[in-house]
Amino acid sequence: MIRGGRPLHGVVQISGAKNSAVALIPAAILAESAVTLDNLPAISDVAVYSDILRDLGAVVERKDDIIRIDPSELKSVPMPNGKVKMLRASYYLMGAMLGRFGEAVIGLPGGCNFEPRPIDQHIKGFEALGATVVNEHGAMRITAKELRGAKIFLDIVSVGATINIMLAASRAKGSTIIENAAKEPEIIDVATLLNAMGARIKGAGTETIRIEGVDQMHGCRHSIIPDRIQVGTYMIMAAATRGDVTVEGVIPKHMEAVTAKLREMGATVEELDDAVRIISSDEPYHPVDVKALVYPGFATDLQSPMTSLLTQANGVSVLSDYIYGNRFKHVPELALMGANIRLEGRSAIIEGGPLSSAKVHATDLRAGAALVIAGLTVKDGITEVTGVEYIDRGYDNLVENLRRLGADIWRETTSDDK
Ligand code: EPU
Repeated sequence: MIRGGRPLHGVVQISGAKNSAVALIPAAILAESAVTLDNLPAISDVAVYSDILRDLGAVVERKDDIIRIDPSELKSVPMPNGKVKMLRASYYLMGAMLGRFGEAVIGLPGGCNFEPRPIDQHIKGFEALGATVVNEHGAMRITAKELRGAKIFLDIVSVGATINIMLAASRAKGSTIIENAAKEPEIIDVATLLNAMGARIKGAGTETIRIEGVDQMHGCRHSIIPDRIQVGTYMIMAAATRGDVTVEGVIPKHMEAVTAKLREMGATVEELDDAVRIISSDEPYHPVDVKALVYPGFATDLQSPMTSLLTQANGVSVLSDYIYGNRFKHVPELALMGANIRLEGRSAIIEGGPLSSAKVHATDLRAGAALVIAGLTVKDGITEVTGVEYIDRGYDNLVENLRRLGADIWRETTSDDK
């Protein structure tokens, strides 16, 4: 529930990245001894993944933002159903189990289904490494007598496929080269952990990644990179409410695409060592065109939050998503709040204007964030956002953080939740 119209002011501290954490946790099972991860986000996807590892026989201990995963007693248990269906990133168990045991049975992933999200490039990678992949009633059975390094050219730049191939290839015999690899900061984070565990990976963060397989991997300690999508969401919230917010625990370099767009709209963004400060003025925002692309382009995960901000610009903006062309489930909800948005192919054409309060529903994580941002801008009435369990998947302490920044926001259990 949001009573909007208040500018956000103050400091917010950002946790580790969800999309790193959900890869680093399964990566830990490639080790024969305990892996400790710091800067863990307190989000539901991490809790579910920890339970999945426990079901596989790992000892998982968590204290505050630190998780210790001891996979020494891990067993090769088939996971065709159950918790794996609750997460998108359960697909990383395919690469990690394949690397560790030479076999994996993992149900096709669930998670945010804003549009069909195929995993053909992951499978192509496993097959190139010598695995046989069979779809058994919605679960992938992946087996290999021996994984052998290979040269793999990805047809599509895919974060998930790049990481999954790195996981399996770390334990293959010989060298693997991934061409047309994804370059997201989360890929570098996973490679950094794997190298600390004894893997030999070079080139992460470029389009060519080379992996020399190793026989054994061991435990280590690693600190998760900041969540650039949470950072971007708070930057957008600050601008949307005409506030002045310092977001701390940030790698400003990761934020360049967002920073550039906020500046183009007319907000001031200061880049500090490990923080960014967003200072709004009372001048009308300029409309801008935004294209969601692979990193270092504007992140598709910030496309929905950005839609809400662009409703506050003075004029017509065009926002196109070149990663997920149908990721616009937030648009009909924003229309209920009075937004003037037309969808054309993979673009949203947004005519700025004030929003009004309404009861709206989040259908996925980032759509949920977009609706909260929209609610924060509304000057009269209370906006009710349902489906907030999606928001819990990727934003830790969102309500508490926003309250500290001066927002009038609270949670209620509605009849829809019972
Ligand atoms: N694709 C294929 N085949 C594949 C893999 C991907 O066609 O085998 C396509 C996808 O359909 C999409 C594009 O390639 O059009 C890129 O998908 P990618 O594989 O990079 O996405 P992902 O790894 O499944 C991760 C994040 C997403 C984020 C995307 C893009 C995780 C767990 N998820 O997904 O995050 O949107 O990269 O940056 O890392 C979110 O956090 O809200 C979220 C959805």
